Amino acid sequence: MPSENSISINGNVFSYTPGETILEVAHRNSIDIPTLCHLKGAIPTGACRMCVVEVKGARSLVASCAAPVTPNMVVQTETAQVVEARRMVLQLLLSSGNHNCAVCGSAADNWTEFQLKVQEAEAGTELCPVWGDCRLQDLAFRYQVTGERFEPTETSYPMETTNPFILRDFSRCIQCGRCVQACNEVQVNQAIHFGYRGAATKIIAAGDRPYIDSDCVFCGECVQACPVGALVEKDARYEARPWETRKVRTTCTYCGVGCQLYLHVRDNRVVKVTGVEDVAPNYGSLCVKGRFGFDFIHSPDRVKTPLIKESGSFREASWDEALDLVARKLGDIKAEHGSDSIGMLTSARITNEENYIAQKFARAVLGTNNVDHCARL
Ligand code: SF4
Ligand code: SF4
Ligand code: SF4
Ligand code: FES
Repeated sequence: MPSENSISINGNVFSYTPGETILEVAHRNSIDIPTLCHLKGAIPTGACRMCVVEVKGARSLVASCAAPVTPNMVVQTETAQVVEARRMVLQLLLSSGNHNCAVCGSAADNWTEFQLKVQEAEAGTELCPVWGDCRLQDLAFRYQVTGERFEPTETSYPMETTNPFILRDFSRCIQCGRCVQACNEVQVNQAIHFGYRGAATKIIAAGDRPYIDSDCVFCGECVQACPVGALVEKDARYEARPWETRKVRTTCTYCGVGCQLYLHVRDNRVVKVTGVEDVAPNYGSLCVKGRFGFDFIHSPDRVKTPLIKESGSFREASWDEALDLVARKLGDIKAEHGSDSIGMLTSARITNEENYIAQKFARAVLGTNNVDHCARL
């Protein structure tokens, strides 16, 4: 039996900190409660009811993402009643809008054909761009449901393709609200919100205008938060399917903040960038440059070797040759004019550690305190 500040989940007792939700305690202890609308760090909305659990003494199932733990709570996370409730939520979502990956029953004639098409190298554009990387699809598989139980409701939203970075396809939107929270609570950009009412409810920007005509700054936080295929990176769409890419963790090169990101790489080409969640300094967030500005990596115009200017034009050189030249010239200037004739200007586009090394080099090797940095201007 649990004691004060402890909770029983599936027969095991765990301690909790007052204010924690059932979901937080469960996840902290590696108990898997599925979620759809829950966005870590944002105010729980309890919108989707996927995370429901049975709480002893409660009259109905409880949304664990929004329910604070109380002393001696007794919780079951995967009873028959809970599973049936989750199956119902999934069936309703799958029958609403365009979820063609999971609407067919396994006995349907065209189902096998459809599955085979997904495996083809040249997948048709009618396939969902997030096939294999969709929370709704994962849960449909986990709970073995399709969208056939309920009468399908069509959504006739045209796809928004008018900006360079993000495709919006509300025929696949499940109205979980994660994008709205990501934009307003995480990035605090206030660019999107729920619009209209009832069955016409839709996520809108600036009076239902395209992103490009709104306050959107194209940080892509909403895309990363979207659990389905309603918001996708335009350039990544149909470039590669998730199982064809490998994720390479690295540090963003655009500025000295040092955001942690994943490069999604297929055949040695970067096809998409996402932020690394739960890790400082960015905790999954990125700016428009870090998330979408990766074209330069494969640009044929990119400078790949040092260039030395001779007689007015550049020629390629090795790193050893270039560094020897710079060292010799700095040595000559120092000998002729003194250390303080040299200044070191560094950049916010390199890391703090690199800036530290640069100033150390100026002071300890060149012998000058003439050090400055573009971020100070
Ligand atoms: S959004 Fe998800 S569930 Fe809907 S079609 Fe795409 S992969 Fe399937
Ligand atoms: S890209 Fe960024 S600013 Fe634009 S709607 Fe999404 S979260 Fe908001
Ligand atoms: S666009 Fe995506 S994140 Fe936003 S409400 Fe729809 S499904 Fe949820
Ligand atoms: S995840 Fe709890 S209600 Fe949606």
